[in-house]
Amino acid sequence: MKRKYLIAGNWKMNAGGASGLELARGVAEGTKELAGRVEIVVAPPFTALAAVAQELEGTHVEVSAQNLYPKDSGAYTGEVSAPMLLESGARWVILGHSERRQYFGETDEFVREKVRAALAAGLRPIACIGETLEEREANRTLEVVFRQLDAIRDELASRPGVGVIAYEPVWAIGTGKVAGPEQAEEVHAAIRKRLAEFSAELADATRILYGGSVKADNAAGLLGMPNVDGALVGGASLDAAGFARIAQAAPER
Ligand code: 13P
Repeated sequence: MKRKYLIAGNWKMNAGGASGLELARGVAEGTKELAGRVEIVVAPPFTALAAVAQELEGTHVEVSAQNLYPKDSGAYTGEVSAPMLLESGARWVILGHSERRQYFGETDEFVREKVRAALAAGLRPIACIGETLEEREANRTLEVVFRQLDAIRDELASRPGVGVIAYEPVWAIGTGKVAGPEQAEEVHAAIRKRLAEFSAELADATRILYGGSVKADNAAGLLGMPNVDGALVGGASLDAAGFARIAQAAPER
């Protein structure tokens, strides 16, 4: 199967107000000529989600949330559900980001529940997995990545190709230390093989994005790898022109 490139911008806790609208407009304008060839997604904070979705209506750019709570409604103060996100105009949701695992104690099981809730509501999950520096140095990269992957693969297999995996080595996030193309490809290929042992259809249909210090000047090398199907971009997604250059680095497939 020909997997279409997906370039997603995770704005994290930035651009949650008027600046988010300007950024969204810049992304739509800067990536216009890629429409149909490269899928473009932006993930603003909750406060800007509905306004950004409205701003992008009728364009090729889709909107993602950065998290959800896996219940539809109820007494869960401060939380936001999958149906609410959908109603706000989101079509995607980033789940299990390492910052959520690290700072908010999210477990593999909780991430699984979130992936299930997203799919049940009709939201497309971008599920994040990745090892810390300590784990990599102890040669535990695949052990950790497979454990995180195995927790969600049944959910992903319920709708092959709807969900996306983002491999984000924690040591590469916000550090400027990007994984080299071969280093990323090695893990991406291992993830796909692991999926194939479970379901050939799932392995073939699932896009595996790379995330961690992706910038305009290192994107082409990463996106040129056969098992890298896109990027989840943090810091560099806050600049519309730089983000557009990353998307433009996706080769023809
Ligand atoms: P940076 O691109 O800032 O390293 O962040 C990556 C990331 O965490 C995307 O989700």
